[in-house]
Amino acid sequence: MGRNSQAYFVGSVSALGGFLFGFDTGLMSSILEMTYWQDYFNHPGSVGVGVITSMLTAGCFVGSLFAGYLADKFSRKRTIMVACVVFTLGAAIQCGSRNRAMLIAGRFVAGLGVGVLSMTVPIFQSEISPPHIRGRLVSLQQWAITWGLLVAFWIDYGCHFIKSDASWRVPIGIQIVPAAILFTAMIFMPYSPRWLIDHDQPDKAQQVLGRLRANGDASAPEVLEELEEIKEAVRIERETAVRSYFELMRYPIRRRVFLGVLIQALQQLTGINVIMYFAPSIFKQSGLSGNNASLLAQGINGVINMLATIPAILFIDRWGRRKTVMIGSLGCAITYFIQAVATGATQHKEKLSDGSVDLHLPKGVSYLVIVMVYLFVISFAMSWGPIGWIYPSEIFPMHIRSKANSITTASNWLFNFVIGLVAPILIKKITWGLDLIFAIIMFASIGIVYLFYPETKNRSLEDMEIIFTGSVWAHKDKKRIEEYDNAQAHHLASKEEASV
Ligand code: BGC
Repeated sequence: MGRNSQAYFVGSVSALGGFLFGFDTGLMSSILEMTYWQDYFNHPGSVGVGVITSMLTAGCFVGSLFAGYLADKFSRKRTIMVACVVFTLGAAIQCGSRNRAMLIAGRFVAGLGVGVLSMTVPIFQSEISPPHIRGRLVSLQQWAITWGLLVAFWIDYGCHFIKSDASWRVPIGIQIVPAAILFTAMIFMPYSPRWLIDHDQPDKAQQVLGRLRANGDASAPEVLEELEEIKEAVRIERETAVRSYFELMRYPIRRRVFLGVLIQALQQLTGINVIMYFAPSIFKQSGLSGNNASLLAQGINGVINMLATIPAILFIDRWGRRKTVMIGSLGCAITYFIQAVATGATQHKEKLSDGSVDLHLPKGVSYLVIVMVYLFVISFAMSWGPIGWIYPSEIFPMHIRSKANSITTASNWLFNFVIGLVAPILIKKITWGLDLIFAIIMFASIGIVYLFYPETKNRSLEDMEIIFTGSVWAHKDKKRIEEYDNAQAHHLASKEEASV
């Protein structure tokens, strides 16, 4: 780590934003199954559950759209702090809910905060880190998301033993603690050096770069060099760049916006949040008896998700984005397909008096479903989880990055919202049919990535301009990019020769 320890530190602190994101995502799945919660809110049916779950993501959608403007105008750092305050307000409203309307309103407000964080944190991380660890720092946010989910599942599991309304109020209220920690810690974190230069504060930017790159030595050669590079980039952008949202619809940015929006949509169309939100009821429907067992199974799910993200953090820059998501999609598709066939062939569906469904699966098939859910989560965590966030954060030029990312992030939340809304209904209505739909989408995504997504691993920002201005058929464009690489290598070699 050495000289980069400060960058790792600042990147990890801001990743706490991901923790809040994951915590709030994971929170409701088990609460929905708690008896005291169900009694207090008059046993919401599938539509009610869908609305309560999805209000958070509706707020996230709106929050992420505003985040682009806020992060540019008020700085990444202050935007993260404001998001913590909004999030705390939302959590407090939910915690003190006296009726469904209050709960729904609280989830929307908390969602505004999470939405802002989900777009601002990766940008802040990428702007404070040196290029060679940028991918890793951004995947730290994904890891923090999985930690948030895991902690939420286990806190829920612990609290379901409480025999009062505290069983659901405590887990909802407790999220204020990490929000307060993030807010306080951000006071001591630096502003993004790039944002400072863009706001005419080069001296401050130099101090920050000294802290991040050279243990506080603001006049170290690498600090001065990077400072000049950023100044130059900002100067050129000011002369040439259009900063409005319209630029997103024009060549050469349009293609990248489309790919960024689609990759975030596909991340959600893996169906990951059907599992993160509703696995306990899926486990129950598949025959795992009692609340305790299904909540425990969800707790294990959280651990698997967190552990399976680690290889991606370590090796994503070596494996590459394309290959990793295609293999991930194949894993997801196969596990869905097996579930669909096994459940479809053996289920005897019965609607119970409390509105839930029992599929009466043979014991072996029940276990098979659980194993397939876990294998699906592993496939997702090693691929779509991190890459859904990394890819959009690395393909845009600096001047339009936060605006473009607010659109791609909003796409993630939009699809998350829709899935949260319709999944509880479909799980009961079409059971294994939903698995089949996701299997088909995942098989199709292999082709989509193969045809349209260029590889971006180990590429500099300048390279991105070359990569995304060729044919839209990524698989056909390989030759042109290889020729570019050869020309670059040749250019470098002749430069070296000339200097000898
Ligand atoms: C997704 C979330 C999901 C989480 C699961 C994230 O990358 O955006 O929607 O709940 O991964 O680990």
